[in-house]
Amino acid sequence: MMIGSKLGRHCGRVGIRGRTINCSLLSTIAAPSTDLAAVSAPASSYNDKYWMPFTDNHKFKGFPRKVFERASGVYYYLEDGTPILDGISGLWCCNAGHGQPKIVQAIQTQAAKLDFAASFNSSHKLPYLFAEKLLELLPGRDFSQVFFTMCGSTAVDTALKIALQYHRANGDHSKVRFIGRERGYHGVGFGGISVGGIMPNRKAFSGNMLPFVDHIVHTHSLPHMAYSKGQPAWGDHLADDLERVIARHDASTIAAVIIEPVAGSTGVLPPPEGYLQRIRDICSRHNVLLIFDEVITGFGRLGASFATTRFDVTPDLITCAKGLTNASVPAGAVITRSNIFKAIQEAAHRSPGMQIEFYHGYTYSGHPLAMAAGIATLEVYQEQAIFENAAVLEPYFEQLLHSLKGLPHVVDIRNIGLMGAVEVAPIAGFPVARSMDIFDRAFEKGVFLRVTGSTIAMSPPLVCERKHLDQIVDTLRQSIIESAQLMQMPH
Ligand SMILES: Cc1ncc(COP(=O)(O)O)c(C=O)c1O
Repeated sequence: MMIGSKLGRHCGRVGIRGRTINCSLLSTIAAPSTDLAAVSAPASSYNDKYWMPFTDNHKFKGFPRKVFERASGVYYYLEDGTPILDGISGLWCCNAGHGQPKIVQAIQTQAAKLDFAASFNSSHKLPYLFAEKLLELLPGRDFSQVFFTMCGSTAVDTALKIALQYHRANGDHSKVRFIGRERGYHGVGFGGISVGGIMPNRKAFSGNMLPFVDHIVHTHSLPHMAYSKGQPAWGDHLADDLERVIARHDASTIAAVIIEPVAGSTGVLPPPEGYLQRIRDICSRHNVLLIFDEVITGFGRLGASFATTRFDVTPDLITCAKGLTNASVPAGAVITRSNIFKAIQEAAHRSPGMQIEFYHGYTYSGHPLAMAAGIATLEVYQEQAIFENAAVLEPYFEQLLHSLKGLPHVVDIRNIGLMGAVEVAPIAGFPVARSMDIFDRAFEKGVFLRVTGSTIAMSPPLVCERKHLDQIVDTLRQSIIESAQLMQMPH
């Protein structure tokens, strides 16, 4: 069973003043602070040339939400100067907030000094430095190599390739199958959508995805775990679905399992207690590599460097991006354990004429600006004790979020680290109408959140203070109440 799209779907169309519009816009129109004349004005500056990703282009350009002009600290600012509190760290990525001076300076200096250097048979010193610093975040776990990519999607595809090549290097040529998980998001490469478990992200491309992929069940169950605080106590047995899938295909055909330690894009789903360790044990028993996709959970989001350290479960490969450079320059990375690089390197050097270990890389792997930004980012995380701040704020955020229990249509509240989610009951046939309505109202009130299906997700910058968390949750509270009173039902 797969679930709804990353950004949600069209929720239907209704008539207003003789025009037909998308129902999720009703929220904006119904919001008291919205000027109907302004909403109806021609959107000349939002032309059709820019094809927006994961967006209903028609809706956005017809009724553009005011766009951001600049950002600083935990705030975005609109063109008219209105501050919008960034309740989602951009897109789960600006962990240290916006415009950190040290990161800005590093990028500016590097751009003037060395704007580009290829990483194929040439280099500069920054990827070496950055790789070393990154590995310091994972002490004592045998991680030893970093492969730089351009983003999370390319990190995922790279990790899948490394897994294939690792087994091949060991002579296990039949180990080619990947196991993903329902409700998993692993970016948009063909590898990522194949192992991902979000139906609309796969549907249009389903005619030609990776052929040998299966999925285990997701861990979300409202009857068993609604309103859990942190990790649900129920559900570690769901890891055993991996045994079932491995048995179905035979371990000799399986290369790797990829999961997000906390599913982010499908609504903040913390792992049941003990679940990740059980997955780890099953993988070890069957010589199947375990990939943790830490594109969201990396770099302090859970109050620790990675989910790997927070949960004390060590995968074979980690994919990361986003907070890697505080999102200031696009970049991703795959972090691998020493046996993996060693096996691949030794196999390559056993074959005459095969000096290149891994026929893979990007023009922008190890890009100087990304490396400079990344090194400065890790320094900022350390100097400002940002991971620690997230850990300190976690209980406060948890208490605030769970105070929303009992509000109209709220069916679940989830949290871990500085990730939070409020799930509302979907309207039959219009799964994102209510959550979008709440999102729109919160934006009008000055807080930027995120909608994933019928869930409103939060992932505030890790540099925020209690007062910012108060503002996010108070605004969400008002928006939920207002939506219940004023939202016009789609039909
Ligand atoms: C867990 C996970 N993996 C991969 C990706 C893809 O990252 P990118 O958008 O940088 O390609 C994302 C993006 O949200 C993600 O959350």
